[in-house]
Amino acid sequence: MTTETLDIKITKNTQPRLAQTDFSKLVFGHTFTDHMLVADYADGEWKNFQIIPYGEIGLSPAISALHYGQAFFEGMKAYRQQDGQVSIFRPDKNAARFNKSAQRLCMPELPVELFTQSIAALVDVERDWIPTAENHSLYIRPFMFATDPYLGVVPSSTYKFMVLTCPVGPYFTKPLRVKFETHFTRAAEGGFGYAKAAGNYAGAMLPNRRAMEEGFDQLIWTDAKEHLYAEEMGAANVMFLIDGKLITPSTRDTILDGVTRDTVIALTKDWGVPVEERRVSIAEIVDAAKSGKLTDAFGAGTAATIAPVGSINYNGEEYTLSDPATREYSNKVFNTLNDIRYGRTADTHGWNYMV
Ligand code: PLP
Ligand code: COI
Repeated sequence: MTTETLDIKITKNTQPRLAQTDFSKLVFGHTFTDHMLVADYADGEWKNFQIIPYGEIGLSPAISALHYGQAFFEGMKAYRQQDGQVSIFRPDKNAARFNKSAQRLCMPELPVELFTQSIAALVDVERDWIPTAENHSLYIRPFMFATDPYLGVVPSSTYKFMVLTCPVGPYFTKPLRVKFETHFTRAAEGGFGYAKAAGNYAGAMLPNRRAMEEGFDQLIWTDAKEHLYAEEMGAANVMFLIDGKLITPSTRDTILDGVTRDTVIALTKDWGVPVEERRVSIAEIVDAAKSGKLTDAFGAGTAATIAPVGSINYNGEEYTLSDPATREYSNKVFNTLNDIRYGRTADTHGWNYMV
């Protein structure tokens, strides 16, 4: 199917829930809009793009997505701009990463235009669901999974691409108490940490639960080999301001190439602040915390937005950072990002895709 022939059949939900939805009580990922997008891959092509009422779908219990995890997803957001227009933030970056995940999991790629246009069509249908309050948006969850009904451990020949949308508010509501994870591993060299594979998130659940039982809000993943270098923070990239420089782990096999990370780096360079993308050791962060040179630390992600770290724990030693409310850098990043997304300042990088 080519872009020119992208023809999306729309079946309207006859029992919309929008009017009954309380936007002041949104819990991330619990409220779904009235419609969803579905497309099928079979015989070597994408077809049957449809927007249908949100609801259950019938599937064979033998699909390899359920047994072997041949499944992955993306996360992005649409915003209601201050003049009422609707924009999606950097969908081209998500489309590119979608296809990187697809390649790694032996799944078919989806041409960037089909990804973007089909998502824009769904957002257009759901535009009244986009919250207007500050720090609120429409979370977009594209995903793909294998649908061949047999148990062979081989790539499926059929797939479904689907997109769900959820109105959301802030993911974190307070500064995070985090710890360096030095036992469990999220991803190893040669693995698929850089892909948004479903299995990466299943494997993170036990370490996350343990960290929460210990009183932490999030963990900072460290390298699989030595557990000496910071990699990511939960489901977000991690960034540190040390001695006036923005320092963040460089992307590699084990690290998701975050859209928010890339955006923060671009803004930081615009401002003339030095940026270092490289390996960052726990020792360097701990030393900087002790000497007062660690003036900011935060997670950067679509769901997480800019999530300030309040304190970092390493092997039982707690390092408390300055009050996030007083931090110049992460507040500037957070506010600038919001201003661009809500159309309050010029989008000089062309990041807003207008629907
Ligand atoms: N790292 C992981 C493991 C994630 O799940 C996410 C969330 O998508 C990120 C980083 C941040 O990526 P992005 O800014 O593209 O949302
Ligand atoms: C996102 O930020 O879009 C993510 O994928 C995080 C999610 C697992 C909640």
